[in-house]
Amino acid sequence: MTLLLSGIGRLVTHDPTHPTEPSDARPDVGAGLDDAWLVVDDDRVVATGTGALPAADERIDVAGRAVVPGFVDSHTHLVFAGDRGREFTARMAGQPYAAGGIATTIAATRAADDDHLRALLTRRVAESQAAGITTREVKSGYGATTRDEARLLRLAREVTSHTTFLGAHVVPPGTDADAFVDLVVSEMLPACAPLAESVDVFCEVGAFDVDQSRAVLEAGIAAGLRPRIHANQLGPGPGARLAVELGCASADHCTHLTDADVAALAGSDTVATLLPATDFSTRQPYPDGRRLLDAGATVALATNCNPGSSFTTSMAFVLALAVRHCGLTLDEALWSATRGGARSLRRDDVGHLSPGARADLVVLDAPDPSHLAYRPGMPLVAATFASGRQVAGAPLPPA
Ligand code: NIG
Repeated sequence: MTLLLSGIGRLVTHDPTHPTEPSDARPDVGAGLDDAWLVVDDDRVVATGTGALPAADERIDVAGRAVVPGFVDSHTHLVFAGDRGREFTARMAGQPYAAGGIATTIAATRAADDDHLRALLTRRVAESQAAGITTREVKSGYGATTRDEARLLRLAREVTSHTTFLGAHVVPPGTDADAFVDLVVSEMLPACAPLAESVDVFCEVGAFDVDQSRAVLEAGIAAGLRPRIHANQLGPGPGARLAVELGCASADHCTHLTDADVAALAGSDTVATLLPATDFSTRQPYPDGRRLLDAGATVALATNCNPGSSFTTSMAFVLALAVRHCGLTLDEALWSATRGGARSLRRDDVGHLSPGARADLVVLDAPDPSHLAYRPGMPLVAATFASGRQVAGAPLPPA
């Protein structure tokens, strides 16, 4: 069954064979195809172009709206219970953000049964689909016991194949950090590795130091997991360089980087994933995406949806912050929120709309993708398609 989307005011595909479009090699180039169409066959894109419309079994005319690849959210903590709105309010009144707040969510999450957590997770996934997100990574990290970490990963696996074991998220109050790392490595990891694709650690003052972080990531790698790291979020530190040393798929946050960190990331396959909604919600400086791109690093953007530092699933908000505060152009930000995220998840079939790609796309209620940053806070996602099927938005009428 083929579906033709016609009447696309501007289509961004990230297809490297389209010379006017951003691509892996030239994320800063171009703005897409004007007056375009796209053909989907089942779950795949089969053709894109301009001019005469090709034949198809069904047709939807999107009436001049822009179409972009589905967003790839490569960093989320979607499985949690409890609320930290008051902590946010206190922060806006001057309290600093600290890693210790994670323990509040651990307590609420442990107290919630699976059905409650599943209902919360399902709602957040629906919310993120409505925001145009079609691929997501989900971390554990609010369990902090073997049983609870495994429980969170089992739930995460119900909504994504990109699950990440984050047993080393925070040292539980009253626990010795080295003893907790031993527990993570010797007991949690063997139980959780079969449920996870990646392993992650929060390498930061107040969480895990570089030796503890290395121990967790090396054990995860030995268990067959792909390493990722929370690095350089609250201050300068060794996380970004550890990411490069261990071949992490991604170093996430990257808010406080030295020139040496930037050079190390630029010379590696480690994606620098920026999470500017976090810096917004924690009153941190914003990461310098321009410096990373100019040095040659691959940059991704993600929501970091979690109850403490970034309670949003709006990739449009993230994009707007990246354009306004991180020095990215709109084209670069859009590339980073799609193809960049896919690179960090080591996926080639999402984040672009070249023939053969998964038919994950967003129809914007706007004629041009620039509106994602130009009209901040507006509900700009008219429809989200995942694997060729509409999963969010009001049904688009056939032409
Ligand atoms: O990525 N930094 C560590 N983890 C989350 C925050 C989690 C929380 O505050 O509950 C983050 O920002």
